[in-house]
Amino acid sequence: MAGCLSRILVIGSTGYFGKFMVDASVRLGHPTFALVRENTVTSDPGKAKLVESFKSAGANIIYGDIYDKEKLLVILKQVDVVICTLSHRTPHLYEDEVMLIQAIKEAGNIKRYIPSEFGFDVERLDIMEPAKSLLGVKAMVRQRIREEGVPYTIVCGKLAANWYFLPKVGQVGASGPPIDTVRILGDGNTKVVLVKEEDTATYTVKAADDPRTLNKIMYLRPPGCVISHNEMIDLWEKKTGKKLKRIYVPEEEVIKNIQEGPLETRGSYMIAHAGFIKGQTMIDIDSSIGVEASELFPEVKYSPIDVLLDGLLPVND
Ligand SMILES: NC(=O)c1ccc[n+]([C@@H]2O[C@H](COP(=O)([O-])OP(=O)(O)OC[C@H]3O[C@@H](n4cnc5c(N)ncnc54)[C@H](OP(=O)(O)O)[C@@H]3O)[C@@H](O)[C@H]2O)c1
Repeated sequence: MAGCLSRILVIGSTGYFGKFMVDASVRLGHPTFALVRENTVTSDPGKAKLVESFKSAGANIIYGDIYDKEKLLVILKQVDVVICTLSHRTPHLYEDEVMLIQAIKEAGNIKRYIPSEFGFDVERLDIMEPAKSLLGVKAMVRQRIREEGVPYTIVCGKLAANWYFLPKVGQVGASGPPIDTVRILGDGNTKVVLVKEEDTATYTVKAADDPRTLNKIMYLRPPGCVISHNEMIDLWEKKTGKKLKRIYVPEEEVIKNIQEGPLETRGSYMIAHAGFIKGQTMIDIDSSIGVEASELFPEVKYSPIDVLLDGLLPVND
């Protein structure tokens, strides 16, 4: 079986999203290669442990750095698919991705490139600055990939469930699930897509070998992951048996928080404003360039929000 599956290289394997990609690739039976920076392993015990877990799971660890072009070409020659999870927070994501794209072209054997995305559809995104410019880099990368003729799949159209919103039952600035009151941005009726990171990785790896996703944008919109904030709170109230006082925060106040609020929450407000008020994870899918993951891969047993919320309930002995 493994013989027919593509060999997958994960660049950014020790990062937040990369580790889920390595796990999914191994789990789905792909010969998996994780690019790991040697310094990271020697300096960060947590990441060293993570790399050990990759090895135990059966992934091949390749020590290296994307800036070592000679070695990068040798690595690329050994694989069929590249999944990139370099961070959008680096000021040189565009340059790094272009370097990868050029190396992929030079190697000539890569059947699919999956660039670092996994969030909103950045080409059609209505989000406030500076998030717009920061994420706009990903749109520039898409354009470059198309210009260079590298076979690709873009994976996007959702928010990462566990990264921020789900553990707080959709709130911004809270430290956990609501207890007595809950703050809702806008009217709470906008639908938003929240997909568990593991499921994003599963769909990404499934897409890597599938001709239906070649040179397409694959949106992640499994029906059980589409929910409004009000609906999420309804579910939470039902699970806890406790009614919450709902405080609705008008859009103007959300914008004020983005422009003048504490620096540490501005980014979350920007993303929440785009997702929970402006509905930016629910844009229409243009079927000439876009496909939806759960329609393509109905066999994937993803985690609906309803089930994910159960994981937040206190454990009773
Ligand atoms: N984090 C989230 O919650 C989230 C949510 C939605 C979407 N996303 C998207 O997911 C993508 C990945 O973001 P992330 O948060 O997972 O990034 P991250 O945690 O910062 O991970 C970046 C990875 O890139 C590696 N890396 C950096 N420079 C490298 C180099 N020169 N050579 C080889 N490897 C290098 C890092 O290695 P070291 O471990 O050695 O530093 C790390 O493994 C981004 O497009 C982001 O926008 C993230």
